[in-house]
Amino acid sequence: MTDDANELKGPDLAKGIALSDLAENMPLLGHAGGEQVVLVRQGAECFAIAHQCTHYHGPLAEGLAADGHLRCPWHHACFDLRTGEASRAPAIDPLDTWEVTERGGKVFVGAKRAPRPAKAPRKTIPGRIAILGGGAAGFAAAEQLRRDGYQGDLTMLSGEAAPPIDRPNLSKDYLAGSAPEEWMPLRPDDFYAANGIDLRLNTSVAAIDRDARKLQLADGGTVPYDRLLLATGAEPVRLPVPGADQPHIHTLRTLADCRAILAGAKDAKRVAVIGASFIGLEVAASLRTRGIETHVIAPETIPMEKILGAEMGGFVRALHEEHGVIFHLGEGVIGFEGKQVMLKSGASLEADLVVTGVGVRPRIALAEKAGLTIDRGVAVNACLETSDPMILAAGDIARWPDPHTGQNIRVEHWVLAERHGQAAAHILMGEREPFEGVPFFWSQHYDVPINYVGHAETWDAIDIEGDIAARDCILRYRKNGRVLAAASIYRDIASLQAEMALESSRV
Ligand SMILES: Cc1cc2nc3c(=O)[nH]c(=O)nc-3n(C[C@H](O)[C@H](O)[C@H](O)COP(=O)(O)OP(=O)(O)OC[C@H]3O[C@@H](n4cnc5c(N)ncnc54)[C@H](O)[C@@H]3O)c2cc1C
Ligand code: FES
Repeated sequence: MTDDANELKGPDLAKGIALSDLAENMPLLGHAGGEQVVLVRQGAECFAIAHQCTHYHGPLAEGLAADGHLRCPWHHACFDLRTGEASRAPAIDPLDTWEVTERGGKVFVGAKRAPRPAKAPRKTIPGRIAILGGGAAGFAAAEQLRRDGYQGDLTMLSGEAAPPIDRPNLSKDYLAGSAPEEWMPLRPDDFYAANGIDLRLNTSVAAIDRDARKLQLADGGTVPYDRLLLATGAEPVRLPVPGADQPHIHTLRTLADCRAILAGAKDAKRVAVIGASFIGLEVAASLRTRGIETHVIAPETIPMEKILGAEMGGFVRALHEEHGVIFHLGEGVIGFEGKQVMLKSGASLEADLVVTGVGVRPRIALAEKAGLTIDRGVAVNACLETSDPMILAAGDIARWPDPHTGQNIRVEHWVLAERHGQAAAHILMGEREPFEGVPFFWSQHYDVPINYVGHAETWDAIDIEGDIAARDCILRYRKNGRVLAAASIYRDIASLQAEMALESSRV
Protein backbone atom coordinates (compact mmCIF):
# COMPACT_ATOMS: atom_id res chain seq x y z
CA MET A 1 0.00 0.00 0.00
CA THR A 2 1.18 3.51 -0.79
CA ASP A 3 1.02 6.34 1.75
CA ASP A 4 -2.04 7.64 -0.05
CA ALA A 5 -3.69 4.24 0.10
CA ASN A 6 -3.30 4.33 3.91
CA GLU A 7 -5.71 7.23 3.90
CA LEU A 8 -8.32 5.47 1.79
CA LYS A 9 -11.61 5.06 3.59
CA GLY A 10 -13.97 2.09 3.68
CA PRO A 11 -13.50 -1.48 2.48
CA ASP A 12 -11.26 -2.53 -0.39
CA LEU A 13 -13.94 -3.14 -2.99
CA ALA A 14 -11.49 -4.81 -5.38
CA LYS A 15 -11.31 -7.66 -2.81
CA GLY A 16 -15.08 -7.87 -2.88
CA ILE A 17 -17.91 -7.25 -0.49
CA ALA A 18 -20.85 -9.49 0.35
CA LEU A 19 -23.90 -8.53 -1.67
CA SER A 20 -25.93 -8.93 1.51
CA ASP A 21 -23.87 -6.10 3.07
CA LEU A 22 -25.01 -3.68 0.38
CA ALA A 23 -28.35 -2.18 1.27
CA GLU A 24 -30.52 -1.12 -1.62
CA ASN A 25 -29.84 2.50 -2.60
CA MET A 26 -27.45 3.08 0.33
CA PRO A 27 -24.21 4.41 -1.19
CA LEU A 28 -21.13 2.74 0.30
CA LEU A 29 -17.77 4.51 0.35
CA GLY A 30 -14.87 2.15 -0.34
CA HIS A 31 -11.86 2.03 -2.61
CA ALA A 32 -10.47 0.15 -5.57
CA GLY A 33 -7.14 0.42 -7.37
CA GLY A 34 -6.01 3.13 -4.95
CA GLU A 35 -9.00 5.42 -5.54
CA GLN A 36 -12.08 6.15 -3.50
CA VAL A 37 -15.19 4.70 -5.06
CA VAL A 38 -18.89 4.78 -4.18
CA LEU A 39 -20.75 1.51 -4.66
CA VAL A 40 -24.53 1.52 -5.05
CA ARG A 41 -26.88 -1.43 -5.36
CA GLN A 42 -30.16 -0.91 -7.15
CA GLY A 43 -32.19 -4.11 -7.46
CA ALA A 44 -30.03 -6.76 -9.08
CA GLU A 45 -27.46 -4.28 -10.35
CA CYS A 46 -24.49 -2.64 -8.65
CA PHE A 47 -22.70 0.49 -9.83
CA ALA A 48 -19.30 1.91 -8.90
CA ILE A 49 -18.77 5.61 -9.38
CA ALA A 50 -16.32 8.33 -8.28
CA HIS A 51 -16.84 9.63 -4.77
CA GLN A 52 -16.67 13.38 -5.31
CA CYS A 53 -19.11 15.55 -7.20
CA THR A 54 -17.61 17.36 -10.17
CA HIS A 55 -19.25 20.63 -9.09
CA TYR A 56 -17.59 21.52 -5.76
CA HIS A 57 -16.42 18.03 -4.72
CA GLY A 58 -19.48 17.20 -2.60
CA PRO A 59 -19.25 13.76 -0.89
CA LEU A 60 -21.41 11.51 -3.04
CA ALA A 61 -21.43 8.67 -0.49
CA GLU A 62 -23.67 11.04 1.52
CA GLY A 63 -26.00 11.59 -1.44
CA LEU A 64 -29.31 10.07 -2.39
CA ALA A 65 -29.48 7.13 -4.79
CA ALA A 66 -32.69 6.31 -6.67
CA ASP A 67 -33.89 5.37 -10.13
CA GLY A 68 -30.48 4.81 -11.71
CA HIS A 69 -29.11 8.10 -10.40
CA LEU A 70 -27.10 9.50 -7.53
CA ARG A 71 -27.83 13.01 -6.28
CA CYS A 72 -25.18 15.18 -4.65
CA PRO A 73 -25.98 16.23 -1.07
CA TRP A 74 -24.62 19.75 -1.45
CA HIS A 75 -26.32 21.39 -4.44
CA HIS A 76 -28.43 18.54 -5.84
CA ALA A 77 -26.50 17.75 -9.03
CA CYS A 78 -27.59 14.39 -10.41
CA PHE A 79 -25.37 11.70 -11.98
CA ASP A 80 -26.32 8.70 -14.08
CA LEU A 81 -25.00 5.70 -12.13
CA ARG A 82 -24.52 3.62 -15.29
CA THR A 83 -22.57 6.15 -17.34
CA GLY A 84 -21.33 8.70 -14.80
CA GLU A 85 -22.86 11.47 -16.90
CA ALA A 86 -23.87 14.62 -15.04
CA SER A 87 -27.50 14.52 -16.02
CA ARG A 88 -28.48 17.64 -14.08
CA ALA A 89 -26.68 20.82 -13.18
CA PRO A 90 -24.91 22.29 -11.33
CA ALA A 91 -22.36 19.55 -12.11
CA ILE A 92 -21.42 19.53 -15.78
CA ASP A 93 -18.46 17.11 -15.99
CA PRO A 94 -19.09 13.34 -15.81
CA LEU A 95 -17.83 11.06 -13.05
CA ASP A 96 -15.50 8.11 -13.55
CA THR A 97 -17.16 4.72 -13.35
CA TRP A 98 -15.72 1.25 -12.65
CA GLU A 99 -16.50 -2.28 -13.82
CA VAL A 100 -18.53 -4.25 -11.27
CA THR A 101 -18.86 -8.05 -11.25
CA GLU A 102 -20.67 -10.47 -8.96
CA ARG A 103 -19.38 -13.93 -8.03
CA GLY A 104 -20.45 -16.28 -5.28
CA GLY A 105 -22.58 -13.73 -3.47
CA LYS A 106 -19.83 -11.10 -3.53
CA VAL A 107 -19.53 -7.87 -5.49
CA PHE A 108 -16.12 -6.86 -6.89
CA VAL A 109 -15.10 -3.49 -8.25
CA GLY A 110 -12.70 -3.97 -11.16
CA ALA A 111 -10.97 -1.64 -13.59
CA LYS A 112 -11.91 1.94 -14.16
CA ARG A 113 -13.87 2.27 -17.38
CA ALA A 114 -12.55 4.29 -20.29
CA PRO A 115 -14.31 7.65 -20.63
CA ARG A 116 -17.41 7.31 -22.72
CA PRO A 117 -16.99 8.48 -26.29
CA ALA A 118 -18.72 11.70 -27.23
CA LYS A 119 -22.24 11.28 -28.56
CA ALA A 120 -22.48 10.70 -32.29
CA PRO A 121 -23.03 13.84 -34.33
CA ARG A 122 -26.74 14.49 -34.73
CA LYS A 123 -28.58 15.64 -37.79
CA THR A 124 -28.15 19.36 -37.92
CA ILE A 125 -31.62 20.80 -37.57
CA PRO A 126 -31.73 23.67 -36.88
CA GLY A 127 -28.63 24.70 -38.83
CA ARG A 128 -27.89 27.81 -36.76
CA ILE A 129 -28.59 28.36 -33.10
CA ALA A 130 -27.88 31.68 -31.44
CA ILE A 131 -27.81 32.00 -27.67
CA LEU A 132 -28.29 35.48 -26.31
CA GLY A 133 -26.61 35.47 -22.90
CA GLY A 134 -23.35 34.16 -21.49
CA GLY A 135 -24.61 33.28 -18.02
CA ALA A 136 -25.92 30.15 -16.35
CA ALA A 137 -28.68 29.30 -18.82
CA GLY A 138 -26.77 30.30 -21.95
CA PHE A 139 -23.66 28.37 -20.95
CA ALA A 140 -25.54 25.24 -19.91
CA ALA A 141 -27.50 25.24 -23.17
CA ALA A 142 -24.38 25.59 -25.33
CA GLU A 143 -22.53 22.89 -23.40
CA GLN A 144 -25.50 20.52 -23.54
CA LEU A 145 -26.05 21.08 -27.26
CA ARG A 146 -22.49 20.03 -28.02
CA ARG A 147 -22.66 17.19 -25.47
CA ASP A 148 -25.76 15.93 -27.26
CA GLY A 149 -23.92 15.93 -30.59
CA TYR A 150 -25.36 19.09 -32.11
CA GLN A 151 -23.24 19.86 -35.17
CA GLY A 152 -24.72 23.10 -36.47
CA ASP A 153 -23.49 26.66 -36.01
CA LEU A 154 -23.60 27.82 -32.43
CA THR A 155 -23.11 31.46 -31.49
CA MET A 156 -23.22 32.73 -27.91
CA LEU A 157 -23.40 36.48 -27.32
CA SER A 158 -22.59 38.08 -24.01
CA GLY A 159 -22.45 41.67 -22.89
CA GLU A 160 -19.87 40.67 -20.29
CA ALA A 161 -16.11 40.91 -20.69
CA ALA A 162 -15.53 37.50 -19.07
CA PRO A 163 -16.50 34.09 -20.45
CA PRO A 164 -19.26 32.38 -18.43
CA ILE A 165 -18.32 32.37 -14.76
CA ASP A 166 -19.51 30.80 -11.54
CA ARG A 167 -21.70 33.78 -10.68
CA PRO A 168 -22.85 32.59 -7.22
CA ASN A 169 -19.24 32.58 -6.11
CA LEU A 170 -18.99 36.34 -6.67
CA SER A 171 -20.65 36.99 -3.32
CA LYS A 172 -19.12 33.97 -1.55
CA ASP A 173 -15.61 32.50 -1.55
CA TYR A 174 -14.23 34.69 -4.34
CA LEU A 175 -15.28 37.86 -2.52
CA ALA A 176 -14.15 36.45 0.83
CA GLY A 177 -10.72 35.72 -0.65
CA SER A 178 -10.83 31.94 -0.27
CA ALA A 179 -11.37 31.16 -3.97
CA PRO A 180 -8.79 32.41 -6.48
CA GLU A 181 -9.93 33.96 -9.73
CA GLU A 182 -8.77 30.87 -11.69
CA TRP A 183 -11.72 29.00 -10.16
CA MET A 184 -14.31 31.40 -11.52
CA PRO A 185 -14.63 30.46 -15.22
CA LEU A 186 -17.09 27.61 -15.81
CA ARG A 187 -14.76 26.39 -18.56
CA PRO A 188 -11.23 27.29 -19.67
CA ASP A 189 -11.08 29.98 -22.35
CA ASP A 190 -10.15 27.51 -25.10
CA PHE A 191 -13.24 25.32 -24.44
CA TYR A 192 -15.45 27.46 -26.64
CA ALA A 193 -13.32 27.41 -29.79
CA ALA A 194 -12.49 23.73 -29.23
CA ASN A 195 -16.21 22.95 -29.16
CA GLY A 196 -17.19 25.13 -32.08
CA ILE A 197 -18.96 27.69 -29.89
CA ASP A 198 -18.54 31.15 -31.34
CA LEU A 199 -18.46 33.03 -28.03
CA ARG A 200 -18.61 36.76 -28.56
CA LEU A 201 -17.85 38.73 -25.43
CA ASN A 202 -18.41 42.45 -24.86
CA THR A 203 -21.13 42.17 -27.47
CA SER A 204 -24.38 43.95 -26.92
CA VAL A 205 -27.49 42.89 -28.80
CA ALA A 206 -29.69 45.87 -29.65
CA ALA A 207 -32.70 44.18 -31.25
CA ILE A 208 -34.23 40.91 -32.39
CA ASP A 209 -35.50 40.97 -35.97
CA ARG A 210 -37.99 38.10 -35.88
CA ASP A 211 -39.03 38.40 -39.53
CA ALA A 212 -35.49 38.19 -40.84
CA ARG A 213 -34.44 35.85 -37.97
CA LYS A 214 -31.39 37.81 -37.05
CA LEU A 215 -29.98 39.67 -34.08
CA GLN A 216 -29.03 43.27 -34.52
CA LEU A 217 -25.84 44.09 -32.63
CA ALA A 218 -25.16 47.47 -31.04
CA ASP A 219 -21.97 47.77 -33.10
CA GLY A 220 -23.98 47.49 -36.33
CA GLY A 221 -23.29 43.80 -37.03
CA THR A 222 -25.92 41.09 -37.33
CA VAL A 223 -26.12 37.44 -36.29
CA PRO A 224 -28.57 35.22 -38.20
CA TYR A 225 -30.34 32.33 -36.49
CA ASP A 226 -32.77 29.53 -37.23
CA ARG A 227 -33.57 29.10 -33.52
CA LEU A 228 -32.77 31.57 -30.77
CA LEU A 229 -32.42 31.03 -27.04
CA LEU A 230 -32.95 34.15 -24.97
CA ALA A 231 -31.07 33.99 -21.67
CA THR A 232 -30.49 37.62 -20.82
CA GLY A 233 -30.76 37.15 -17.07
CA ALA A 234 -31.37 40.00 -14.69
CA GLU A 235 -29.72 43.24 -13.75
CA PRO A 236 -29.34 44.75 -10.32
CA VAL A 237 -31.76 47.49 -9.36
CA ARG A 238 -29.93 50.74 -8.69
CA LEU A 239 -31.02 52.81 -5.75
CA PRO A 240 -32.97 55.79 -7.13
CA VAL A 241 -31.59 58.26 -4.60
CA PRO A 242 -29.29 61.29 -4.91
CA GLY A 243 -25.57 60.54 -4.87
CA ALA A 244 -25.96 56.85 -5.76
CA ASP A 245 -23.79 57.22 -8.86
CA GLN A 246 -20.54 57.74 -6.93
CA PRO A 247 -17.65 55.39 -7.70
CA HIS A 248 -17.52 53.85 -4.20
CA ILE A 249 -21.14 52.64 -4.54
CA HIS A 250 -21.45 49.28 -6.25
CA THR A 251 -23.92 46.66 -7.41
CA LEU A 252 -22.84 43.05 -7.91
CA ARG A 253 -23.64 40.94 -10.95
CA THR A 254 -20.49 40.49 -13.02
CA LEU A 255 -16.86 39.63 -12.43
CA ALA A 256 -16.03 43.24 -13.29
CA ASP A 257 -18.43 44.41 -10.53
CA CYS A 258 -16.77 42.09 -8.06
CA ARG A 259 -13.26 43.17 -9.01
CA ALA A 260 -14.35 46.78 -8.41
CA ILE A 261 -15.71 45.87 -4.95
CA LEU A 262 -12.48 44.01 -4.13
CA ALA A 263 -10.44 47.03 -5.19
CA GLY A 264 -12.58 49.22 -2.90
CA ALA A 265 -12.34 46.69 -0.07
CA LYS A 266 -8.53 46.87 -0.01
CA ASP A 267 -8.43 50.08 2.01
CA ALA A 268 -12.00 50.14 3.26
CA LYS A 269 -12.51 50.56 6.98
CA ARG A 270 -16.26 50.40 6.92
CA VAL A 271 -18.71 49.03 4.39
CA ALA A 272 -22.43 49.68 4.15
CA VAL A 273 -24.43 46.92 2.53
CA ILE A 274 -27.83 48.19 1.45
CA GLY A 275 -30.38 45.38 1.44
CA ALA A 276 -30.62 42.24 3.55
CA SER A 277 -31.24 39.95 0.58
CA PHE A 278 -29.28 36.78 -0.06
CA ILE A 279 -26.74 38.67 -2.11
CA GLY A 280 -26.51 41.52 0.41
CA LEU A 281 -25.99 39.19 3.34
CA GLU A 282 -23.53 36.97 1.49
CA VAL A 283 -21.55 40.09 0.63
CA ALA A 284 -21.69 41.11 4.30
CA ALA A 285 -20.39 37.67 5.36
CA SER A 286 -17.56 37.77 2.83
CA LEU A 287 -16.47 41.29 3.78
CA ARG A 288 -16.61 40.42 7.49
CA THR A 289 -14.36 37.47 6.70
CA ARG A 290 -11.94 40.07 5.33
CA GLY A 291 -12.15 41.87 8.67
CA ILE A 292 -13.99 44.97 7.43
CA GLU A 293 -16.54 46.64 9.71
CA THR A 294 -19.85 45.85 8.04
CA HIS A 295 -23.24 47.53 8.41
CA VAL A 296 -26.40 46.19 6.78
CA ILE A 297 -29.23 48.66 6.15
CA ALA A 298 -32.64 47.31 5.13
CA PRO A 299 -36.33 48.19 5.50
CA GLU A 300 -37.48 44.81 6.80
CA THR A 301 -37.29 43.98 10.49
CA ILE A 302 -36.30 40.35 9.99
CA PRO A 303 -33.90 39.56 7.14
CA MET A 304 -35.22 37.10 4.56
CA GLU A 305 -38.53 36.69 6.39
CA LYS A 306 -40.44 36.83 3.09
CA ILE A 307 -38.53 33.90 1.64
CA LEU A 308 -37.62 31.78 4.65
CA GLY A 309 -40.05 32.84 7.39
CA ALA A 310 -39.43 34.63 10.68
CA GLU A 311 -37.69 31.75 12.49
CA MET A 312 -35.03 31.13 9.86
CA GLY A 313 -34.73 34.88 9.20
CA GLY A 314 -34.10 35.49 12.91
CA PHE A 315 -31.42 32.83 12.91
CA VAL A 316 -29.71 34.41 9.88
CA ARG A 317 -29.69 37.76 11.64
CA ALA A 318 -28.22 36.27 14.83
CA LEU A 319 -25.60 34.40 12.82
CA HIS A 320 -24.43 37.62 11.18
CA GLU A 321 -24.44 39.47 14.48
CA GLU A 322 -22.28 36.74 16.00
CA HIS A 323 -19.78 37.58 13.27
CA GLY A 324 -19.93 41.27 14.03
CA VAL A 325 -22.33 42.57 11.39
CA ILE A 326 -24.21 45.65 12.59
CA PHE A 327 -27.82 45.77 11.37
CA HIS A 328 -29.89 48.90 10.79
CA LEU A 329 -33.27 47.26 10.16
CA GLY A 330 -36.57 49.02 9.60
CA GLU A 331 -34.38 51.66 7.98
CA GLY A 332 -33.98 53.09 4.48
CA VAL A 333 -31.44 55.07 2.50
CA ILE A 334 -32.56 58.45 1.18
CA GLY A 335 -29.30 59.49 -0.42
CA PHE A 336 -25.53 59.68 -0.26
CA GLU A 337 -23.56 62.81 0.52
CA GLY A 338 -19.99 61.92 -0.29
CA LYS A 339 -19.13 59.05 2.00
CA GLN A 340 -22.15 59.69 4.22
CA VAL A 341 -25.07 57.31 3.81
CA MET A 342 -28.17 59.34 4.66
CA LEU A 343 -30.84 57.28 6.43
CA LYS A 344 -34.59 57.68 6.48
CA SER A 345 -34.61 58.01 10.26
CA GLY A 346 -32.48 61.16 9.99
CA ALA A 347 -29.30 59.41 11.07
CA SER A 348 -26.29 59.00 8.81
CA LEU A 349 -23.39 56.60 8.58
CA GLU A 350 -19.98 57.05 7.05
CA ALA A 351 -18.88 54.25 4.75
CA ASP A 352 -15.95 54.20 2.35
CA LEU A 353 -17.44 51.27 0.43
CA VAL A 354 -21.13 50.69 -0.34
CA VAL A 355 -22.65 47.59 -1.93
CA THR A 356 -26.31 47.68 -2.82
CA GLY A 357 -28.26 44.45 -3.04
CA VAL A 358 -31.79 45.69 -3.38
CA GLY A 359 -33.08 43.20 -5.92
CA VAL A 360 -32.79 42.54 -9.62
CA ARG A 361 -34.95 43.16 -12.66
CA PRO A 362 -35.28 40.59 -15.44
CA ARG A 363 -33.74 41.89 -18.67
CA ILE A 364 -36.79 41.66 -20.88
CA ALA A 365 -36.51 44.86 -22.92
CA LEU A 366 -35.32 43.09 -26.09
CA ALA A 367 -38.07 40.48 -25.88
CA GLU A 368 -40.65 43.17 -25.27
CA LYS A 369 -39.43 45.27 -28.18
CA ALA A 370 -39.57 42.19 -30.41
CA GLY A 371 -43.25 41.77 -29.53
CA LEU A 372 -42.92 38.53 -27.55
CA THR A 373 -45.55 37.91 -24.90
CA ILE A 374 -44.47 39.35 -21.57
CA ASP A 375 -45.86 38.35 -18.19
CA ARG A 376 -43.62 39.84 -15.49
CA GLY A 377 -40.83 38.10 -17.43
CA VAL A 378 -40.84 36.41 -20.82
CA ALA A 379 -43.82 34.08 -21.00
CA VAL A 380 -42.91 30.56 -22.18
CA ASN A 381 -44.80 27.28 -22.49
CA ALA A 382 -43.79 24.01 -20.86
CA CYS A 383 -41.20 23.53 -23.63
CA LEU A 384 -39.69 26.94 -22.83
CA GLU A 385 -40.94 28.36 -26.15
CA THR A 386 -41.94 31.99 -26.23
CA SER A 387 -44.94 33.26 -28.20
CA ASP A 388 -42.61 32.90 -31.24
CA PRO A 389 -41.83 29.16 -31.37
CA MET A 390 -38.49 29.89 -33.09
CA ILE A 391 -37.42 31.63 -29.87
CA LEU A 392 -36.99 29.93 -26.49
CA ALA A 393 -36.29 31.66 -23.19
CA ALA A 394 -34.53 30.32 -20.11
CA GLY A 395 -33.18 31.35 -16.73
CA ASP A 396 -34.03 34.48 -14.74
CA ILE A 397 -36.19 35.97 -17.51
CA ALA A 398 -38.48 33.00 -18.18
CA ARG A 399 -41.92 32.56 -16.62
CA TRP A 400 -43.00 28.98 -17.22
CA PRO A 401 -46.00 26.84 -16.25
CA ASP A 402 -44.76 24.94 -13.20
CA PRO A 403 -46.61 21.62 -12.86
CA HIS A 404 -45.76 21.38 -9.15
CA THR A 405 -47.48 24.58 -8.05
CA GLY A 406 -49.91 24.89 -10.95
CA GLN A 407 -48.73 28.49 -11.41
CA ASN A 408 -46.68 30.33 -13.98
CA ILE A 409 -43.51 31.07 -12.07
CA ARG A 410 -40.27 32.95 -12.64
CA VAL A 411 -37.33 32.12 -10.45
CA GLU A 412 -33.89 33.67 -10.03
CA HIS A 413 -31.69 30.69 -9.11
CA TRP A 414 -28.43 29.48 -10.57
CA VAL A 415 -29.21 25.75 -10.70
CA LEU A 416 -32.66 26.37 -12.14
CA ALA A 417 -31.19 28.61 -14.87
CA GLU A 418 -28.66 25.92 -15.78
CA ARG A 419 -31.37 23.26 -15.84
CA HIS A 420 -33.53 25.48 -18.02
CA GLY A 421 -30.55 25.83 -20.36
CA GLN A 422 -30.04 22.07 -20.48
CA ALA A 423 -33.74 21.46 -21.11
CA ALA A 424 -33.76 24.10 -23.86
CA ALA A 425 -30.84 22.30 -25.53
CA HIS A 426 -32.80 19.03 -25.59
CA ILE A 427 -35.86 20.82 -26.93
CA LEU A 428 -33.81 22.55 -29.64
CA MET A 429 -32.52 19.08 -30.62
CA GLY A 430 -36.10 17.98 -31.19
CA GLU A 431 -36.90 16.27 -27.86
CA ARG A 432 -40.04 18.13 -26.85
CA GLU A 433 -40.00 17.12 -23.20
CA PRO A 434 -41.74 19.65 -20.96
CA PHE A 435 -39.58 21.26 -18.28
CA GLU A 436 -40.64 19.82 -14.93
CA GLY A 437 -37.64 20.64 -12.73
CA VAL A 438 -38.13 21.68 -9.12
CA PRO A 439 -36.31 24.93 -8.25
CA PHE A 440 -33.33 24.64 -5.92
CA PHE A 441 -30.97 27.21 -4.49
CA TRP A 442 -28.32 27.40 -1.86
CA SER A 443 -26.90 30.30 0.05
CA GLN A 444 -23.75 30.40 2.15
CA HIS A 445 -23.24 32.53 5.27
CA TYR A 446 -19.84 31.93 6.89
CA ASP A 447 -19.77 28.16 7.49
CA VAL A 448 -23.55 27.78 7.34
CA PRO A 449 -25.14 26.64 4.07
CA ILE A 450 -28.88 27.04 3.59
CA ASN A 451 -30.45 24.79 0.96
CA TYR A 452 -33.91 25.46 -0.41
CA VAL A 453 -36.01 23.27 -2.71
CA GLY A 454 -39.38 24.06 -4.20
CA HIS A 455 -41.20 27.34 -4.57
CA ALA A 456 -43.38 28.94 -1.91
CA GLU A 457 -44.34 32.57 -2.53
CA THR A 458 -46.70 32.37 0.43
CA TRP A 459 -47.56 29.68 2.97
CA ASP A 460 -49.94 29.16 5.82
CA ALA A 461 -47.69 27.04 8.05
CA ILE A 462 -44.04 26.20 8.54
CA ASP A 463 -43.21 22.83 10.09
CA ILE A 464 -39.84 22.99 11.81
CA GLU A 465 -38.01 19.71 12.29
CA GLY A 466 -34.77 19.82 14.27
CA ASP A 467 -33.15 22.87 15.81
CA ILE A 468 -32.46 25.98 13.74
CA ALA A 469 -30.06 27.50 16.29
CA ALA A 470 -28.11 24.23 16.42
CA ARG A 471 -27.80 24.40 12.60
CA ASP A 472 -29.51 21.10 12.14
CA CYS A 473 -32.98 21.56 10.74
CA ILE A 474 -35.42 21.31 7.90
CA LEU A 475 -38.37 23.67 7.56
CA ARG A 476 -41.30 22.68 5.39
CA TYR A 477 -43.50 25.44 3.96
CA ARG A 478 -47.11 24.29 3.61
CA LYS A 479 -50.13 25.76 1.94
CA ASN A 480 -53.55 24.13 2.13
CA GLY A 481 -51.85 21.09 3.62
CA ARG A 482 -49.37 20.65 0.72
CA VAL A 483 -45.62 21.05 1.17
CA LEU A 484 -44.49 23.65 -1.38
CA ALA A 485 -40.87 24.02 -0.37
CA ALA A 486 -38.26 23.04 2.20
CA ALA A 487 -35.29 24.96 3.63
CA SER A 488 -32.58 23.10 5.49
CA ILE A 489 -29.29 23.45 7.27
CA TYR A 490 -27.05 20.35 7.34
CA ARG A 491 -30.01 18.03 6.61
CA ASP A 492 -28.91 17.15 3.11
CA ILE A 493 -30.63 13.79 2.74
CA ALA A 494 -33.91 15.24 4.00
CA SER A 495 -33.53 18.08 1.50
CA LEU A 496 -32.93 15.61 -1.35
CA GLN A 497 -35.90 13.56 -0.23
CA ALA A 498 -38.03 16.70 -0.17
CA GLU A 499 -36.87 17.43 -3.72
CA MET A 500 -37.90 13.96 -4.89
CA ALA A 501 -41.27 14.27 -3.20
CA LEU A 502 -41.84 17.67 -4.83
CA GLU A 503 -40.87 16.25 -8.23
CA SER A 504 -43.67 13.73 -8.06
CA SER A 505 -46.23 16.15 -6.66
CA ARG A 506 -48.58 17.77 -9.18
CA VAL A 507 -51.43 20.18 -8.81
C1 LIG B 1 -23.52 37.72 -6.64
C2 LIG B 1 -24.57 36.72 -6.96
C3 LIG B 1 -24.68 35.57 -6.19
C4 LIG B 1 -25.65 34.62 -6.47
N1 LIG B 1 -25.74 33.52 -5.70
C5 LIG B 1 -26.65 32.57 -5.99
C6 LIG B 1 -26.74 31.38 -5.21
O1 LIG B 1 -25.99 31.18 -4.26
N2 LIG B 1 -27.66 30.47 -5.53
C7 LIG B 1 -28.51 30.66 -6.57
O2 LIG B 1 -29.34 29.80 -6.83
N3 LIG B 1 -28.46 31.78 -7.34
C8 LIG B 1 -27.54 32.73 -7.07
N4 LIG B 1 -27.49 33.87 -7.83
C9 LIG B 1 -28.44 34.05 -8.93
C10 LIG B 1 -27.93 33.38 -10.22
O3 LIG B 1 -26.62 33.77 -10.48
C11 LIG B 1 -28.84 33.71 -11.37
O4 LIG B 1 -30.13 33.20 -11.08
C12 LIG B 1 -28.34 33.13 -12.68
O5 LIG B 1 -27.08 33.64 -13.01
C13 LIG B 1 -29.33 33.39 -13.81
O6 LIG B 1 -28.80 32.89 -14.99
P1 LIG B 1 -29.22 33.52 -16.39
O7 LIG B 1 -28.47 32.72 -17.42
O8 LIG B 1 -30.68 33.63 -16.47
O9 LIG B 1 -28.66 35.00 -16.36
P2 LIG B 1 -27.21 35.57 -16.12
O10 LIG B 1 -26.33 34.56 -15.47
O11 LIG B 1 -27.36 36.89 -15.49
O12 LIG B 1 -26.66 35.81 -17.60
C14 LIG B 1 -27.25 36.75 -18.45
C15 LIG B 1 -26.33 36.99 -19.62
O13 LIG B 1 -27.02 37.74 -20.62
C16 LIG B 1 -26.16 38.74 -21.12
N5 LIG B 1 -26.98 39.81 -21.73
C17 LIG B 1 -28.08 40.39 -21.22
N6 LIG B 1 -28.56 41.31 -22.10
C18 LIG B 1 -27.75 41.30 -23.16
C19 LIG B 1 -27.69 42.00 -24.39
N7 LIG B 1 -28.61 42.90 -24.73
N8 LIG B 1 -26.67 41.74 -25.25
C20 LIG B 1 -25.73 40.80 -24.95
N9 LIG B 1 -25.74 40.10 -23.80
C21 LIG B 1 -26.73 40.35 -22.93
C22 LIG B 1 -25.38 39.17 -19.91
O14 LIG B 1 -24.21 39.88 -20.29
C23 LIG B 1 -25.09 37.80 -19.28
O15 LIG B 1 -23.97 37.22 -19.89
C24 LIG B 1 -26.53 34.83 -7.57
C25 LIG B 1 -26.41 35.99 -8.36
C26 LIG B 1 -25.44 36.92 -8.07
C27 LIG B 1 -25.32 38.15 -8.91
S1 FES C 1 -20.87 19.91 -4.86
FE1 FES C 1 -22.24 18.57 -5.85
S2 FES C 1 -23.75 19.84 -6.61
FE2 FES C 1 -22.34 21.20 -5.73
